[in-house]
Amino acid sequence: MSAPKILMQRGLDHPGKSHTLETYEATGGYRAVRKALDMDPLAIQQEVKTSGLRGRGGAGFPAGMKWGFTPRDSEKPKYVVCNSDESEPGTFKDRWLLENDPHTVIEGIMIAAIAIDCHLAFNYVRGEYSYQGQCFQKAVDEAYAKGYLGKGILGSDYDLDLVVHYGAGAYIAGEETGLLESLEGRKAMPRNKPPFPAVEGLFWCPTVINNTETLAAVPWIIENGGDAYAQYGTEKSKGTKMWSCSGPINTPGVYEVEFGVEMMGFVEEYCGGLMEGVGLKGIVPGGSSVPVMKPEQCQGARMDYEGLLERGSLVGSGGFIVIGDNVSAVDCLLNLAHFYAHESCGQCTPCREGCGWIEQLVGEIRNGNGRQANLTKVLELADAMAGKTICALADAMAWPAVAFIKNYPEDFAKLCAGGVDLEALGEAVSRHDHILPRAS
Ligand SMILES: Cc1cc2nc3c(=O)[nH]c(=O)nc-3n(C[C@H](O)[C@H](O)[C@H](O)COP(=O)(O)O)c2cc1C
Ligand code: SF4
Repeated sequence: MSAPKILMQRGLDHPGKSHTLETYEATGGYRAVRKALDMDPLAIQQEVKTSGLRGRGGAGFPAGMKWGFTPRDSEKPKYVVCNSDESEPGTFKDRWLLENDPHTVIEGIMIAAIAIDCHLAFNYVRGEYSYQGQCFQKAVDEAYAKGYLGKGILGSDYDLDLVVHYGAGAYIAGEETGLLESLEGRKAMPRNKPPFPAVEGLFWCPTVINNTETLAAVPWIIENGGDAYAQYGTEKSKGTKMWSCSGPINTPGVYEVEFGVEMMGFVEEYCGGLMEGVGLKGIVPGGSSVPVMKPEQCQGARMDYEGLLERGSLVGSGGFIVIGDNVSAVDCLLNLAHFYAHESCGQCTPCREGCGWIEQLVGEIRNGNGRQANLTKVLELADAMAGKTICALADAMAWPAVAFIKNYPEDFAKLCAGGVDLEALGEAVSRHDHILPRAS
């Protein structure tokens, strides 16, 4: 396993004070934005492209390329929106940044704004993160007081305002177009795409929307150069990633490591290994939406975009959920189905009906009233949902549904009335597992 590289989280050696402007400045903070003010906006975009930075909100889209999609000659205002909605179960790394390192996020937002010629930026903070929102607001206030934000930032002739906006607790408000609807004052109902936000986003104006962690990586890139950032990680997964680790492990928490570390080594070295008496059932590496991996898939898996895809899963949001062998896959899936059924915004029939139906079918199995037909119906529903809706919430339900049944058929068979023909179930799985992400 390679040595840890911490690029985003400054002030770790200033415990209890890492969030303050004083600490941030003492560790080189706001140097990168000063540099950015002297750069051509296209050169800033190019540095981010060179770095290979990919979005950390789930989809892994190249950040510099996204910024480059905003029109240069637009007469409309342009906006930067930081996505701090972070509602993906198992994910809490943005929370860490808002609480402990808010100025890195602010500086990242500022650089993104300069790169696309934006003068009004937002941070959309998940409603439940009231404490973290306050921490972030306090840092914004500090930045305004010091002239880092507002009119003529850092003594330049560039004006930039930053508004902190709270969500009301809906998971779907994290989906970028749902977020924009919510920011405009409506329900967080995702929009059909295209048009993509970079062209028509907030108030139908060009908008860059990036995850909090993505933006937190930007100051280091501008200060040290895209090439320097690209030295970290692997050939196609550049830089570092923050993983929020939970489950029956000895040291749960948020760890930033280079892309490409080996998964079980990471569990031992960073997560402190599994708790005594608990064996490994599986790992959901990228937040609840990504397919669960069995121990044999985890062994030797590289924690990067390509490595996880080769093993049938995804980096997603980096919510690293370790599952102990004392937990039933039926309970895991029921819990998730309950969540997604509750959070579906209801616009698309496959998602609105499918999530609730899966919850009902798995619930029947859990209560001892389900049969093999429940499982085949869940697989058919997942197939009818994935890739067929306005946003990816339907996929986020469909992937774990298929993956949990595929990987742990015995757990489901144990609870099904009348038993399960495992061979027939395996055939049903293979008719529908084409919906799972896989390396081409
Ligand atoms: C249902 C759903 C929920 C999402 N929730 C979040 C979220 O909480 N935070 C986030 O940054 N991205 C979330 N995303 C991804 C965003 O739509 C978008 O891809 C991301 O904010 C773009 O930033 P990035 O390119 O920096 O990752 C979600 C997507 C979906 C489909
Ligand atoms: S997939 Fe689900 S959450 Fe997404 S827009 Fe359709 S109904 Fe709403």
